[in-house]
Amino acid sequence: MTNLATAAASGLGSIDRTGARVSVDDKAMINARADVNQLLPLKYHWAWEKYLSACSNHWMPTEVAMQADIALWKSADGLTEDERRMVKRNLGFFATAESLVANNLVLAVYRQITNPECRQYLLRQAFEEAVHTHTFQYICESLGLVEGELFNMYREVPSISDKDAWALRYTRNLEDPDFGTGTPEADQNFLRDLIAFYVVFEGMWFYTGFAQILSLGRRNKMVGIAEQYQYILRDESIHLNFGIDCINQIKLENPHLWTPEFQQEVRGMLTEACALEVAYARDTMPRGMLGLSAGLCEQYLRFITDRRAQQIGLAPIFGEEENPFPWMSEAMDLKKEKNFFETRVVDYQSGASLDWD
Ligand SMILES: [Fe+2]
Ligand SMILES: [Fe+2]
Repeated sequence: MTNLATAAASGLGSIDRTGARVSVDDKAMINARADVNQLLPLKYHWAWEKYLSACSNHWMPTEVAMQADIALWKSADGLTEDERRMVKRNLGFFATAESLVANNLVLAVYRQITNPECRQYLLRQAFEEAVHTHTFQYICESLGLVEGELFNMYREVPSISDKDAWALRYTRNLEDPDFGTGTPEADQNFLRDLIAFYVVFEGMWFYTGFAQILSLGRRNKMVGIAEQYQYILRDESIHLNFGIDCINQIKLENPHLWTPEFQQEVRGMLTEACALEVAYARDTMPRGMLGLSAGLCEQYLRFITDRRAQQIGLAPIFGEEENPFPWMSEAMDLKKEKNFFETRVVDYQSGASLDWD
């Protein structure tokens, strides 16, 4: 893409005073000709709907009472050693993962998406990632955790570093200030980044963590954190669904990118990502607990991986048809399970009726 076209795609190029008005047909996910500063007329109503749903799900971590968690964490026999290890490694993964996702979103994804309604959603998502990072700061402070230990786990705990290093492979070239979509190779690089972050990072790797903490909450342990995870999970479900819609729309508009070789490569990515997550589950939970075991987590991950493959139009990879944690989908449906843990101080309207999984 030329520098002139890059400036137009950013929305910060000079104003074209003689150009025609924007028509919906000019709008496109990537490489659009239409002015990205003009939200209306909308083309992708799904993006706008997700923006509205995200806004109606607003929450802040500080609204969740932490007294019960603090008492349990500080009492000598409140949690087993295995449970403590799991909680710490779980928080350690998320503490930096949320920032990683936010940085990729703002510094790589946002620049390449040339559609204003999608950018509107991305701005909302970026704020939500900040709220999620805030959650881990708040938990760290409330429980009196060693902040250096928590926020360095992504460098110091191999099962966490391995996942983050894998994802960063896909964002490296997009972070290059000279990178721009516009050639099949560059467009495929961008699609890879979307798949690595939306489908794998937010769509697969968050789920072991959610299952572990929600299992504790179901047993009345660390109920404040469990409630915060429930809100994060609700946000992440929309992030994932938005990412899937973006990927499928880009495929639709650019079918030449979705070659058999590329599809094979994506299947390989999902398979590798599943293996990394299984290793992480084993590391965080060397022994079974809370109705969870590394084996069940592996089955759950295979189930999730197949579901993600199917959502982007690929055949299942493992053929895993049984979800060993059916309660996870209930935990996601806050309309039905509102205030499940009953610790919340303020209640915002929550009304998103998306497909939660
Ligand atoms: Fe997040
Ligand atoms: Fe997210």
